[in-house]
Amino acid sequence: MRNCSIAVQRYLPHEHAEPFWQHFTVPFDESTSILDALNYIKEELDPSLSFRWSCRMAICGSCGVMVNGIPKLGCKDFLRNYLPRNYLASESTAAVSAAEIRIQPLAHFTVERDLIVDMNEFLVHLEAVKPYLITDAGADETPLEKHAQTLAQTNKQTPAQLAKYKQFANCINCGLCYSACPQFGLNPEFVGPAAIALAQRYNLDSRDQGKAARMPVLNGHNGVWSCTFVGFCSDVCPKHVDPAAAVNQGKVESAKSMLIQMFTGRG
Ligand code: SF4
Ligand code: FES
Repeated sequence: MRNCSIAVQRYLPHEHAEPFWQHFTVPFDESTSILDALNYIKEELDPSLSFRWSCRMAICGSCGVMVNGIPKLGCKDFLRNYLPRNYLASESTAAVSAAEIRIQPLAHFTVERDLIVDMNEFLVHLEAVKPYLITDAGADETPLEKHAQTLAQTNKQTPAQLAKYKQFANCINCGLCYSACPQFGLNPEFVGPAAIALAQRYNLDSRDQGKAARMPVLNGHNGVWSCTFVGFCSDVCPKHVDPAAAVNQGKVESAKSMLIQMFTGRG
């Protein structure tokens, strides 16, 4: 194994008023992820380091950090990506690479401690777009059994119907796109890329009738029109959700719904 140097931005509000950098030397091989390195630091060098993780397989979305200034999932990103080729190719195991990897908490979120950020604001934005199927089925007096049959029938989808929203359903709520979004950085009230992708995920679902309930959030002051289309959200998304495409689709839907509202009074 070779060694590399990792700088981690620490923040311990009860001990230091300001964040500070701490430097570690970490052994690695081809398969060492950023998350593995953080776990090595915690287990072998400094148990006080705090960070979130759970699945280690890019599913739970909890291990997001900035690596050299770019939002990444710690479990899906590898130390080898940041080290010079000549160092990786060298036979030397003792030397530490001159290149240092810098790990920081996700940008644009309030830091609670070390690499742990407050995700509440993000969750509020997700919740605002009503991220669940809204149907008319429950609004009538249909007996329960008949109601279940109706639901089973109406919930059937063709592969083409599924394909319309499937990409947006791949979101793991990691928040990387919010860290990449300059608009969210300037205005935390902006509903943001993942929430807009989530709204589209349900608006495009053939089983859903909740679009009218979601459009006020997308049409509003902090909705789709706040996006300045930098597109970095889609670049950093680890699941290829392409939230920037969702924002564009959301703008088309928003324009349509505003026109309908203008001419009919209905959104
Ligand atoms: S859209 Fe992509 S980057 Fe944004 S929260 Fe979902 S998975 Fe993460
Ligand atoms: S630990 Fe679950 S996504 Fe990285």
